[in-house]
Amino acid sequence: MSATKSKTYPPTAAAAKRAHVDAAGYDKMYAHSINDPDGFWGEHGKRIDWIKPFTTVKNTSFEPGNIDIKWFEDGTLNVSANCVDRHVETRGDQVAIIWEPDDPNTTESLHITYRELQTHVCKMANVLQTLGVTKGDRVVIYMPMVPEAAYAMLACTRIGAVHSIVFAGFSPDALGARINGCDAKVVITADHAPRGGKATPLKSNADAALLRCKDSVKCLVVKRTGGQTTWTDRDYSYNDMVLEADDYQQPVEMAAEDPLFILYTSGSTGQPKGVVHTTGGYLVYAAMTHEYTFDYHEGDVFWCTADVGWVTGHSYIVYGPLANGATTIMFEGVPTYPDPGRFWDVCAKHKVNQFYTAPTAIRALMAHGNDWVEKHDLSDLKLLGSVGEPINPEAWNWYYNVVGKGNCPIVDTFWQTETGGHMLTPLPGATTLKPGAAQVPFFGVLPVVLDPQSGEEVHGNDVSGVLCIKDSWPGQMRTIWGDHERFETTYFGDYAGYYFSGDGCKRDADGDLWVTGRVDDVINVSGHRMGTAEVESALVAHVAVAEAAVVGYPHDIKGQGIYAYVTLMNGIDPTDELRAELNKWVRSEIGPIAKPDLLQWAPGLPKTRSGKIMRRILRKIAENDFDTLGDTSTLADPSVVEDLVENRMNRS
Ligand code: WTA
Repeated sequence: MSATKSKTYPPTAAAAKRAHVDAAGYDKMYAHSINDPDGFWGEHGKRIDWIKPFTTVKNTSFEPGNIDIKWFEDGTLNVSANCVDRHVETRGDQVAIIWEPDDPNTTESLHITYRELQTHVCKMANVLQTLGVTKGDRVVIYMPMVPEAAYAMLACTRIGAVHSIVFAGFSPDALGARINGCDAKVVITADHAPRGGKATPLKSNADAALLRCKDSVKCLVVKRTGGQTTWTDRDYSYNDMVLEADDYQQPVEMAAEDPLFILYTSGSTGQPKGVVHTTGGYLVYAAMTHEYTFDYHEGDVFWCTADVGWVTGHSYIVYGPLANGATTIMFEGVPTYPDPGRFWDVCAKHKVNQFYTAPTAIRALMAHGNDWVEKHDLSDLKLLGSVGEPINPEAWNWYYNVVGKGNCPIVDTFWQTETGGHMLTPLPGATTLKPGAAQVPFFGVLPVVLDPQSGEEVHGNDVSGVLCIKDSWPGQMRTIWGDHERFETTYFGDYAGYYFSGDGCKRDADGDLWVTGRVDDVINVSGHRMGTAEVESALVAHVAVAEAAVVGYPHDIKGQGIYAYVTLMNGIDPTDELRAELNKWVRSEIGPIAKPDLLQWAPGLPKTRSGKIMRRILRKIAENDFDTLGDTSTLADPSVVEDLVENRMNRS
């Protein structure tokens, strides 16, 4: 396999010296985690504080018809006590959160100590309690990247409420569906969300969403910009209520398997699924992966550039770092505002030690040239991380050489909303790095490559197939909110006895794993997961559209772009105005991230005689690779393919 011949990077002397584990240490710990999960996790489960210590560790079943996952089940704890209170005793004056605003020229960054964080979280918890939120209730958070978003998350955990964060880029329709989906009692939002110099009117989006929801849902509004908003009967001002709120709120004792949060994510079919994570196992796993993967040490400043609307923000801005007592950065802005040096400016300003971002951002910044990096002092950086999609070797090399100056190991972390934390990743002191590969499993993770046809495990090296996980790990999702059957069929239905990731994978000649991308109808646009079915259903909801098929195609910056084939209703003309209108329509149905990059008018779609759309062919045309369309003889009308090829939009 050619990839194994490319240059590799053994741990640098500095990384190896500093790291929690070296190569021999990794082998030993990994073997322990697999051979004796009860012993291993029983020991590492103690890294967090339990109110009532657990006496059982792993109780999990991947058996068809009985998928049941429980970790530390008789233990009790509180997440906010772990992420805040226990540090107040030992490091109350240490900064917990550094907030970096969208516009550094008009707004100062904030430094919030653990002691201050405790007061903010308690007050927010008290406000939520005043609004009637109690243990088990759901709270939707639709917020900019401001400290109040973290206070809100931790406040929910303090009183046992289950949060469900909706990314602020989602439209009112998408927000409304999620509020109803989890039957939320309260929505927390802000007046506006500044991002890249523009402000999204979050409150008015929330108002529009709430028109579709029960009258009893309350809306708690945080002031961010002070910009104009309308006020309705269901609205409450956080800034007013917090003045009256108590500054201490007792943390509620939660069982390890009580739900901690719901996070909606896209799948290959149907509407987004509410992924449920629970309290004990998730926190242990988020904290442990944060410490080992990033080689986090006491006093380090850690920056994950994600948004708390995605799982990466949950695990590696808030829960992992704060459980470990770290200083974590919350960044409100975008990589290119006010200029393409912003990331490096923030790294220098706050003396960032570990920096974690997505390949799409790296590619976008690489295109702006090295000067933007070189004018900043990045000497505090010790480690770089990548997440969200495979990182192409060109971007890897730029990240390693230009940003890291050849001194910082890159951890290419493969994981998913469903997995709670890292699944495959190099460890900085232990792994010889291979650009583009996530390489080796984290402790407790048992990856297997399956033959997609037979479902049998493929052993040996230099093989490929689909990536499955053979046994449970503490950070695993437990169910889909309100639909355990869908959980079973989605993740365990294809290959009995295995968790199916949805990703393809190869194991190279050295035994290292390479995740090659989704094998289902999920696409990955700028590191954001998008179900093609969701975009299709948004398109067909427009009156002019008869049918639509959506596929991904390679995109230089975004990784994948969205390519839509649209068949119009009889008598409707395909005009540029209509194309623009459909793009706008998808933005309003889902959000800007779902807008098609290319939209082709399709007089007909290639279908089998039984009426199934042949996506394989549509993918090929979208990839501008139509010489090898394969067998089209089973098509009901092979002539539609010629038309699609002739009028294809991607001619790169
Ligand atoms: C993809 C993000 C290759 C993969 C944490 C997965 C990756 C999906 C990597 C999950 C990586 C994530 N290498 N592919 N390092 N990281 N993916 O749920 O296709 O938003 O299934 O979680 O992103 O996306 P999600």
